[in-house]
Amino acid sequence: MKKEGIIIANWKMNHNLSELNEYFKKFQLPVSSEHEICFAPQFPLLTSLKHVVAEKFSSKIKIVAQNCSSEKSGAYTGEVNADALKSIGVDYVIIGHSERRQYYFEDDQKIQNKMKQALSCNLNIVLCIGESLKQRENNELKAVLTQQLSSIDPILGEINFKHFVVAYEPVWAIGTGKVATVEQVREVHDFISTLLTEKFKSNSIPRIIYGGSVNTTNAQELFSVSSVAGFLVGGASLKPDDFSKICSVH
Ligand code: PGA
Repeated sequence: MKKEGIIIANWKMNHNLSELNEYFKKFQLPVSSEHEICFAPQFPLLTSLKHVVAEKFSSKIKIVAQNCSSEKSGAYTGEVNADALKSIGVDYVIIGHSERRQYYFEDDQKIQNKMKQALSCNLNIVLCIGESLKQRENNELKAVLTQQLSSIDPILGEINFKHFVVAYEPVWAIGTGKVATVEQVREVHDFISTLLTEKFKSNSIPRIIYGGSVNTTNAQELFSVSSVAGFLVGGASLKPDDFSKICSVH
């Protein structure tokens, strides 16, 4: 059976408006692809992205924000709320990326508050979780993932599994070129899947995607792991040809 995945380009703090336009002159959607293909540019480019992809791909592509505020609205200079994102047609918001946890000190409470805001505005969520190298070496992998995932416990009742994605991103594999092995990914995805099945008390659980140095060479092998429902791609998504290739996994 053909697996329909979700593949998200996380551009992080890269590409300005003219680079975005150049990108979409080159990017091709694989002809037979059934995947949900998504792009997460910087905030000011979200609307332009929406127009460009609507014109070229008749809205087949989904629009993703890289972050949202943990507050509803008000005097929070520099913050962007979920409501504003929803109002311009954003489909998904990435919450809890390790770069936000690390550089902006976002803890599980903050992440939970962000998820609450996203849920209240009907934004789909991509929740990122993952261990550092030190945590893995100290045998803390399962404890860390369990802790990070517990941020959804108080809001479980509000989550529709179809509109929620968990991205497993081992911190040591992000931007380092060190991709997790297929066995490591399978093991962790199975573990997360068990945790989610317990939480949701059902086999209907959110999709679990992998992120961390996904590229044109390793994407197909990783996608063949049954519990890998797609990818969150950083570096390799910045090049349109490479990202097109990654989107052609089957
Ligand atoms: P990478 O980033 O593909 O450059 O490792 C992935 C991510 O941080 O989402």
